[in-house]
Amino acid sequence: MRNPLFFWTVMLMMGMSAGSAAGGESVPLPPARTSGGMPLMEALKARHSTREFDARPLSSELLSNLLWAAQGVNRPDTGKRTAPSARDWREIDVYVFVREGVSVYEPATHSLRRVADRDLRALTGTQDFPATAPLNLVYVADLGRMADATDDNKRLYSATDAGFIAQNVYLFCASAGLGTVVRGSVDREALSAALGLKENQRIILAQSVGYPR
Ligand SMILES: Cc1cc2nc3c(=O)[nH]c(=O)nc-3n(C[C@H](O)[C@H](O)[C@H](O)COP(=O)(O)O)c2cc1C
Repeated sequence: MRNPLFFWTVMLMMGMSAGSAAGGESVPLPPARTSGGMPLMEALKARHSTREFDARPLSSELLSNLLWAAQGVNRPDTGKRTAPSARDWREIDVYVFVREGVSVYEPATHSLRRVADRDLRALTGTQDFPATAPLNLVYVADLGRMADATDDNKRLYSATDAGFIAQNVYLFCASAGLGTVVRGSVDREALSAALGLKENQRIILAQSVGYPR
């Protein structure tokens, strides 16, 4: 797959109408490139927030690498990931918003499962730039996976775990020459409703990504 548009074209050719989006099938991403990149200390030196993005979409290869960096599986024998999670609950889902729609990243299969075929980028933030940033990630906690935790710990750990993912994305972006900013300013009620999230699902943070303008 050369670009995101191709991805969505393939999805449509697979017979997925708008109405079937919510139960969408998974489409594998290209294999992630898990070597190379900028030395860690240089990436840390370069990490910063950007709020002005070019509209140019990311290639599916770049998206694949970015999502693997975010929370891809780095130990296939256990399914554990590039980001830690409390008690290995893996409660954070990364929702991927591009112009063509919304999908959920599935680390175990390194694939994207479509959940909406509308452009919902504007709903991922209260500022102007998320509407046109080529990619917005939204970190959604499924509190149902945090079995026996107290409500306080569910809030604390799900926020912490989302933060690790966001920092992985920051460092990947620094290494790949992409701009990014993590955002807490989200109308969570409106976005939850648009995505049809379940009672147990909580939007923690959003993060815009794109080539800096
Ligand atoms: C939890 C959290 C929430 C944030 N929310 C927003 C936000 O809603 N909008 C925004 O433009 N920046 C947001 N930021 C980015 C910060 O403003 C930014 O990290 C800070 O100004 C320091 O700049 P730097 O990231 O370039 O070091 C947020 C950062 C964090 C850690």
